[in-house]
Order: sequence, then structure tokens, then C-alpha cells
Amino acid sequence: MSLLIKNGTIVNDDVMFKSDVLVVDGKIVEISPSINPPAGFEVVDATDRLVIPGGIDPHTHMQLPFMGEVAKDDFHRGTEAAVAGGTTMIIDFVIPTKGEGLLTAYDRWRGWADPKVVCDYGLSMAITSWSPQIASEMEIVTGQAYGINSFKFFLAYAGVFMVRDEEFYQGMLQCAKLRALARVHAENGAVIAERCNHLLTAGVTGPEGHTQSRPEELEAEATFRACTMASQANCPLYVVHVMSKGAAAAIAHHRKRGAVVFGEPIAAGLATDGSHYYHEDWLHAARYVMSPPLSRDPSTPNALMNLLAAGELHLTATDNCTFDCQQKSLGKDDFTKIPNGVNGVEDRMSVVWDRGVHAGIIDPMRFVAVTSTMAAKIFNCYPQKGRIAVGSDADIVIWNANATRTISKDTHHHAVDFNIFEGMQVHGVPETTISRGRIVWADGKLRTVQGAGRFIPLAPDSQIVFSSVDNRKKTMEPVRIERAPYVPTPQEEIPDA
Ligand code: URP
Ligand code: ZN
Ligand code: ZN
Ligand code: ZN
Repeated sequence: MSLLIKNGTIVNDDVMFKSDVLVVDGKIVEISPSINPPAGFEVVDATDRLVIPGGIDPHTHMQLPFMGEVAKDDFHRGTEAAVAGGTTMIIDFVIPTKGEGLLTAYDRWRGWADPKVVCDYGLSMAITSWSPQIASEMEIVTGQAYGINSFKFFLAYAGVFMVRDEEFYQGMLQCAKLRALARVHAENGAVIAERCNHLLTAGVTGPEGHTQSRPEELEAEATFRACTMASQANCPLYVVHVMSKGAAAAIAHHRKRGAVVFGEPIAAGLATDGSHYYHEDWLHAARYVMSPPLSRDPSTPNALMNLLAAGELHLTATDNCTFDCQQKSLGKDDFTKIPNGVNGVEDRMSVVWDRGVHAGIIDPMRFVAVTSTMAAKIFNCYPQKGRIAVGSDADIVIWNANATRTISKDTHHHAVDFNIFEGMQVHGVPETTISRGRIVWADGKLRTVQGAGRFIPLAPDSQIVFSSVDNRKKTMEPVRIERAPYVPTPQEEIPDA
């Protein structure tokens, strides 16, 4: 548990400098230019390497039961893939079935995750139905004992997870009251359901139907609507998996009007595109099925990276939700039955470095911001997470900016038999991953212990999310004009013609 990291360059979201880092009992205890190794300390040489905060992936679905299947990466394999890629914390989603109580679902997720995680994790919670009972359970789970500070609403997956606009609006009023962040999967689920039926009737049964059933404007429209409703509810909003330029533009539009809205592109959307859906090999095309779909505009991945650079999108995630070839093949005669979801948690850091820093679009500090620090700030665990600083958790990655690796199913740590980034050569390699002071990945090998990760309770009222809400509320109070009672004039009392 005692480590000395020597000769590296520390990178935080706002500063880079050469220094040594001393770690004791899972915490960073000293940062100085030249620390002599105390007896018994393991020394990690970081010469010519960057020393960065471990990645935080704020959007994963480990072992999610979905579309009749269970996602293959469970909390063990999924967090192993995470640390192998330089991510030391995930935020997964508790997703109650429609009508199920939040507390029951919460206990189920904790029961799955606690014994399996190899790094720290937090939880977000989906609201899939609405009632006074759900509203009061939202209050309970935002307490310290449960540690939930964000709630996600699906505007897609009609009949499964989708909520109606009025339910979403009421849910956001409750989020604002509890000072919890609202998150949204923004697609127009009602129109998608109609288009699916239309395409199937027209004989389009393959994965190309998936993208045609969900044109980008249905994501853009729902994103704009979600932002508008969040403004009306005076509730900060976080749009998960921003996949298209139109959705990103909707977020920027509301940001420019003063709204607190965050946009999260994912690794898949930053490095691949929707041309795969038209691949002549059915299985190849099916592997990329996720929602919202990958953009069919090949310039979208680069555009999303530019928006991260410009601050119009704010942090990166993965939506890691993996189904293997056999599971994908359940939709061989009907694209609506292909389980939705792709990998990402292992490759996000390298993909963002390669497409962002190596490509000259973002600098290493912005890289740290969009892969770690912003998530820590938004989900209120900063500076415990997301920063190399004295007192912070020793979630640290020794990053080799000059090394390359080729992504492949043959070497990845996911529990599935393909990788959507197969064959991609990426610059930027996590050589050593340290989770709360323990080396969990080094020399290309895992050194993980199942259950060694901790649950990180996330408290409401994050500063970066809620600091402007009260002042805005003052401008939104209902306005009532005091008037004398209205008395009709004699001329107005004209009888009906
Ligand atoms: O296709 C996806 N995105 N699967 C996971 C569930 C979700 O929508 O986030
Ligand atoms: Zn989603
Ligand atoms: Zn998701
Ligand atoms: Zn293992």
C-alpha cells in the first residue's frame, strides 16, 4: 500500500509539472520534486511518462438485464477492462423495471457490484415510472446511506424504460428540489417505435433498419426538448451519449441561454461511425447496434472532439453495455431484437488521447478534464477523485503518451468476442494503473482482487451543477398582478347577435 512514483510529469485539469508522488494507505500524502524512497516503499519509475488521475467513466451498464439478455461484462470483468485501460472509477446505472421500487433495485445492484468490483464505483439511478412513491424514494436514495445524486430518464425504449414528457418534467422538479442532477437518454421514442414498424413492414429487417429507424433529427429534437423542459423545471441536465452534431447543437443553444446542461459524447461516437450498419456481413453490422445509433455522417466523430475542445461538450463516457455475437444474433430476422450496446470502458482513454491529444485537438490537461476531473466535479467526488493532489485517493495512471497499441478482441479484457474498435492503432497507453494505492495493472497484466473496489457514495448539491440554480429561481417566480375586479362597461354588454 506504500508507493513512490518517481520522475513523472503530473497532469491535472489546470496544470502540468514534474514531481514525485508519495502514496500511503491509498491516499496521496506528498507531492514534491525529489522524494527519497522511504524503506519498504515500492518505487514506480515514471521517467518520460505522465502521471494522471485515473479515468472516471460516468456511464456504464455492467451485467444489465436488457432486451431479454444480460450484458456480458459483469462488475468483475467490466471493472477489469476499465483498469486495464486506465479507468479507476465507474458510475453504473441502477435501472428498476417499470413499476419496481427504487430501493429494491438499488439493493440488487449493490448485491451484484460490491463483491465483484476491482476498482471504486458509484451509482446513478434511472426513473422508469412515476408515482408519489417513486418521488419519495428519490428522496431516500439521495441520503448518505444510499449515495445517489443523479437520476436518468429515458425518452426512448417505448414500453420498457421510456417515460412521458410530463413524468420527465415532474421528475426534474423533484431532482431540482433534492439538488440531484437529472440525466437524459434523448431520442423521440414514440416516433422510433412507429418507424421500426414501418421499416419491418417494408422488409427492412437487417441492422441498417436500426439506423434508419432512429434518424439523427430524432435525437436532436429530443435533446432540444429535454433541455427546454429542464429550463422550465430549473433543473440542471446531463445529456448522456451525445451521438450527433444536432444533439450537440441543442446543448450549445441552451448553454448560451444560461442553462446548466452538460453533454457527454462516448468513446464509440468519437472513434467510429454508422457506416458499419450497411456492412454486407450481418454480424459485423449488428455488432455496432446501440442507441442512439452511431452517426452516419463520417465527419461527426471529429466534430464531437472539436466540441469537447471548445467546451461545448463537457466530458466523455462509454455507455459500456456489451453483448456477444450469440446475443446479437437473436435479432437475425428483426433488427429491433438485436440487444443494444457496445464496448468502450477499456479503450476510452486511449481513444480520447489518440483522437484528441495526438491529433492536436486538445492538450493533456483538457484530456484529464474530459476523462476524469469533470466527472468528479459533476458527480461531487472532487477532489477525492479526479485530481493528483495531497489528500486525494491514489487513483493514478502512469501514461505513456508515445507508445501505441492496436485494439483487438484477442487482447482486450471484455467478456465478449468482438471489439468495435478492432484493428485501430491508438497512441497513448496506460502502463500502470493504481487503484487507491494498489497497482492493479502493470506490464500488460492485471493484478486485481475481486471486491477490492469500494462503493463511493455521491452526495447531492454538487457545486458545478447547482451553484447558479437559486439565483435563476428568483427570476422564475410566478408573477401575479394585483388588479381591481373586472367590471364590464355598458357597451360591452351587447347581447348575442
Ligand atoms: O444502446 C445502448 N445505449 N444500450 C445501453 C442502454 C442505454 O441506452 O444507455
Ligand atoms: Zn441510453
Ligand atoms: Zn447507457
Ligand atoms: Zn479477475
